Parts: sequence; C-alpha cells; structure tokens
Amino acid sequence: MVIDQTRLPHALVLGKWTTLEDAARGIETMQVRGAPLIGVAAVHGVALALRDDASDDGLAKAVHRLRATRPTAVNLAWALDRCERELAPLAVSERLAAGRELALVVAVEDADTCRAVGLAALPTLSGERRPVQVLTHCNAGWLATVEWGTALAPVYLAHEAGVPVHVWVSETRPRNQGAALTAWELGRAGVPHTVVVDSACGQLMRNGMVHVCLVGADRIAANGDVANKVGTYLKALAAHDCGVPFYVLAPTSTIDHDTPDGSVIPIEERDASEVLALGGVAVTPSGTAARNWAFDITPARLITGIITERGMVPATTEGIASLR
Ligand code: MRU
Repeated sequence: MVIDQTRLPHALVLGKWTTLEDAARGIETMQVRGAPLIGVAAVHGVALALRDDASDDGLAKAVHRLRATRPTAVNLAWALDRCERELAPLAVSERLAAGRELALVVAVEDADTCRAVGLAALPTLSGERRPVQVLTHCNAGWLATVEWGTALAPVYLAHEAGVPVHVWVSETRPRNQGAALTAWELGRAGVPHTVVVDSACGQLMRNGMVHVCLVGADRIAANGDVANKVGTYLKALAAHDCGVPFYVLAPTSTIDHDTPDGSVIPIEERDASEVLALGGVAVTPSGTAARNWAFDITPARLITGIITERGMVPATTEGIASLR
C-alpha cells in the first residue's frame, strides 16, 4: 500500500499498486515522491514487473521504464542499478522471490539509514537558544522516505527527547510540498511549526528568526554541489548572507560520485500548468508562458556541512570522496 501524497493534506488515501505501470505512473505523478522513497518504490515496481515477466528482457524493460520516470533524484538510479546487480545474475525462476525480498530489504535499510542521519545531525540543534528555530524547504520528512525522513529526522528525535524545536516551513511552490506535506507531518507529530511563503525566508533569516537551515537532497555531486527542490539555492544564499548554518541531510545513496559538479545534474522540468494554476484555478492571464524547473543547484560553497548516516563531512571534493 502507498500513501497517495497528491491527496494530502485533505485526505489520507492509500493506493494499491499491482503492476509495473502502477509503480511507474505513481512515481511520475508524484503519488510517491522524495528522493529516498522513489528509490524504494522503484524496487517494488521491479518486483511487481517480475510477477509478469522475470526474463532478462522483462527485467531490463522494467528497469528502463522506471529509470525514465524522474531524472534528478539519483536514489532512483541507485536502486535500479542495485536491482540489476542483484537480480540479473539469478536464474529466471529465482528472480521474483529475490525481487520481493530486495524490496523489503531496501525499505528496512532506508528506515535505519534515515534514523542514523537524524542521530548524526542532532548536534546541529544543540546550543543555548530555545526553542531551536529550524527552517526547512520542501518535504524531507518521513513521507519522502520510509520512516523518519532526512532533514526532519533530527527534528523528530529532538522533539521526542523533549528539546523545544520550532520549524519554519516554506510552502514550496508550485506543488506546495512544504505547506501540504511537511506541515501535515509535523502537525501529526505535535512539532510546533509555522508555514511561510517561499519568498519570506530571506527576511526571516535577516531578522534572526532562524538558527539553522536543514534541507534534504536529490543528488549530491562529487564536489559537494547539491540538487534539491527549487528554491533551496535562494535559501542557502540568504543563510550565507545572514550567517545562518545551512546543512544538507541525505543518505549516502543520494551521492553521485560519477557526477563531477552540479552543472551536469539533470534538472527535471515539469508541466507549466503546475505554475499557471493553483488547485485548478488559473493564477495568470490565459496564454501566459511559464517554465517549471522542479530542482535547483546549491553550490558547495554555501553549504555548512553534508550529514549522512556516516556523520558530517564538509561539502568539498575531499569530504564527498571520504564517503565512497
Ligand atoms: O519533487 P519532490 O517532491 O520529489 O522533491 C523532493 C525534494 O526535493 C526533497 O527535498 C528531497 O527529495 C529530499 S527527500 C528526503
């Protein structure tokens, strides 16, 4: 069962995928989204495909179909590479059981990894100032993973431990993952939070109302540049100008050692209709042109540290290479 995230925050609707195409469409239409989760979902998609056709050709077609769904988050490619590596050498008769097992394994691993990311990031919330004022962008909570999330994992751990935390949630136009998903998650967990429009974040930081920025990542290049939800770069610029620490939290599966820097990370461009209308209601004159890049690149020089399940490293070539 999957939570259909396109229905949140208004309805908690569970969907059932039974075919490869269900999984591929579910990822494309963002019923499931978030870098770690689409990787896990892709492995489930492969397992579903193997029920119908576990031949070499069937496996290759499934991997090809799922790889084409969303281009930026490298966790998807990482998961599909793993499927090929672990399933292709097996006899055809063994692949379905192994694919199902792998789908479970990656889900459990993701939950464990995200908790470890959260524990490694807890020191970013230490200090005298209470409540700790965190700013986050998009949704990098448990909805974007199997459990815990990445950027929100230390927030949940701190909250559970009784540390007072307040989260500034930027709405994340055009799909509003912050307003719709992060606010929903934090509300259910009882974590105090306030939603602001994306363009308010610079002023919040100038006014000293943010102690630390915590964001997730869709792909981290070998030099420490980070692709994340569009708008992340502007927050990093403002944080840099205001002296606010800016941390990127992600599992090591989000690191792409083969991509030298952010300039060559493929940036997904989604349909212009997401910008031109809000909830189905047009916000521009008819005939207006729009572009809709879903991600941007934050240069390494603006990032205070990259925190994975293996601890914090600087956003430098050496720091990233140490995680190979
Ligand atoms: O387009 P989305 O909603 O899949 O984008 C998600 C993000 O950009 C998240 O910040 C990122 O995947 C990290 S999720 C733990």
